[in-house]
Formats: sequence, C-alpha cells, structure tokens
Amino acid sequence: MKALLLCGGEGTRLRPFTHTRPKQLFPLANKAILFYILEYLASSPIREVVMITGTTGAQIRAAVGNGEKWGLHITYVEQPQPLGLAHTVLLAEEALGAEAFMMYLGDNLLEEPLSDIVQAFSRNYAAGRLDELVLVHEVKNPSQFGVAEIREDRVIKVIEKPEAPSSNLALAGIYFFSPEIYNSVRKISPSARGELEITDAIQDLINRGQTVGYRRLKGWWKDTGSPEELLSAQKLLLRQEKKEIRGELFRSHITGRIQLGANSIVENSRLKGPVCIGADCRIKDAVLGPFLSVGDRVEIDRAEVKKSILLPGCRVENLSLTDSILGERSRASAPRPASPEAPGFPHRLLLGDDSSVELQAKRAQKAGYD
Ligand code: G1P
Repeated sequence: MKALLLCGGEGTRLRPFTHTRPKQLFPLANKAILFYILEYLASSPIREVVMITGTTGAQIRAAVGNGEKWGLHITYVEQPQPLGLAHTVLLAEEALGAEAFMMYLGDNLLEEPLSDIVQAFSRNYAAGRLDELVLVHEVKNPSQFGVAEIREDRVIKVIEKPEAPSSNLALAGIYFFSPEIYNSVRKISPSARGELEITDAIQDLINRGQTVGYRRLKGWWKDTGSPEELLSAQKLLLRQEKKEIRGELFRSHITGRIQLGANSIVENSRLKGPVCIGADCRIKDAVLGPFLSVGDRVEIDRAEVKKSILLPGCRVENLSLTDSILGERSRASAPRPASPEAPGFPHRLLLGDDSSVELQAKRAQKAGYD
C-alpha cells in the first residue's frame, strides 16, 4: 500500500518558528517531526510514499531526499496553493494509482504501531467488511478537530471543527481510502475558509453508501499544530529516549534519563531527566529538566530550564525558564543574580530564530537580581 504524506501546510499557528523553517522540520527531542513520521512509516509494510509539499518544499526535499535513508521510496507532488487537504488527493491521484491508500497528515505523531493499523485495514478491506477506515481518539476539545459520530462499527457522520460536537471522538490525521475518494473529492465544494475539506469528502463517501469504519487509537496521539502541542508532544517523545552520555560532566549531578551529545561539557550543574542535550554545548551552573531538549552548540550559564525546547546555537544566561521555545541562535538573558542562590521566577518565552531578549534591570531586581 502507498502512503500520501501531507507536508504542505504553512504552519501559521507555529509562528515565529515557521517563518524560518517548515513546521515538519521543527525538532522535538532534537529530531525533526518529519523524521519521526518517516521512521514510523518505515516500521510498517508501506514503502512507497507520495509527499505533498507547498511553499517550503525545497527545504523539505533537501532534508529528506528520495527517502532511501529510511528504506522508503518518496516521490514529491507540489501543491502550489493551499486549497485544502482533500485537494491534495486529486493532485496525487496519478502517483497513487487506482488502489486503496493511506493518507497521513505530516504533523501527527502517535504511539500505536503502524503495522497493526495497516494490517487491520488491509484485512477488513480485503474481506469487504469496510471501504474506508478513519482513526479516532477521545479528546476533551473536539471542536478543534474533525469529529466522528459512530453507530456500531461504522462512522455515520463527520463534521469539521463543529461548535457543538456530537461526540468526543476526534478524527486523527490518518485515513485509509478506497479509490472512491477521488469521486467524492470531485463532488465537494470549498468550505467557508476556501478549502476542500477531507471531512466533507468522507461525508460524501458515507452519503454514497460506502462503509466507513473507525478504529480507536491505542496510546497517545498528538497533532503538533501549536507551541503547547509541541511541548506536550516532546514530553511524550522524551519518555521514550534512551540514556546516552557522550560528552563530559564535571562536579554535576544527574538523575533520570539523560542524553548528552559528543563534545558537550556540563559543569557544576544538576540534570533531572528526561533531558536530551545535543553536541558541542557548554552548560555551567545550571539546573536543567525535566522534559527539556537542548540542541547542538547551545550555551547555558547560571540558568534553570525545564519543560522547554532550546534550538541549536541559542544562549541562556541568568534566567529561569519553563514551557519555553527558543529559536536557533537566539539569546535570552538577565543581569547577573545578586547571589548564586537567587532563584528568579520562571519566565515563559517563545523566541524566534536569531532573536534576542534581555530582562531589564528594574524588573530583574524585583525577582532578586542585581
Ligand atoms: C485536520 C483535519 C481534522 C483532523 C485534524 C487532525 O485539521 O481537518 O479533521 O481532526 O487535522 O490532526 P487541521 O489540523 O488541519 O486544522
């Protein structure tokens, strides 16, 4: 079976980070979201991937190539304008051929092994028990997703981001379609936001008497569309990381699972895992973690940082940070504390690449700084 992988989104909810990179290349636990997805696809029987890219296509192609690194064969199809998820199905029709395929939205991460899911679809499809399959997950905020209404083992209705959801079952961004989907996409019209919605195409399949089955996802599922979601997805991924110390620790104390990359030096610090630190970092007088990723070449001096993502080359000095994302080569600092013990209250910063923030002395004084 082939997979249609959608990587065309502009990632507007992830600005400023998506001003300078496609959201699929944003790193969680020091690895691009898209790389997790390609590994995930490669762990299943799927080998052929048709990837849809948009304005950020060149960067994605440069990072991924033809997919052989993952044992996949990737062909690229461009979506010149963001005309909707369903629109990409028509663009990819020729590349996908007249067979059932899996559609995967390139910002979804999930725990359940993909092989189990693909096999469940293939078995039931071959036996004629269903024509299409959607994956659903119970959520607290269904109005932010496509929502499925089910009866027995079928989906009877789907609505995109309803104000008054009729169930708490969100459509996860992974779907299995028969070639009937092409006819449905040709029939639907653009939604209020001017896009061909995949949810409308699924509703058309139901209306035309296709059997759309559903499967409840086992384990966690994340749609990494906002900074909060990035941080919470990273938390889940860091829990799966293995311990590996390649750099050097001096007068430092570590607990929990720590990854420390080659040539990184940690001095007089406490690391509370899970924490994942890249290569060539300089960390001094710091308290780091839990749930923190630190990219390559980061410098941290007299700081406390937890539940955050620090991208390569950034620098943090004299600050306490939580739930923060610091872009590449960004700088965040405060005046030097009055005493090394001065804790400082934790700040939350979302700082784009190459940006710089300096906490002012007056504000800093209140927080116990000189
Ligand atoms: C898209 C789909 C929605 C689905 C969601 C899952 O929404 O339109 O039905 O529930 O992905 O990630 P988007 O994230 O593009 O707003």
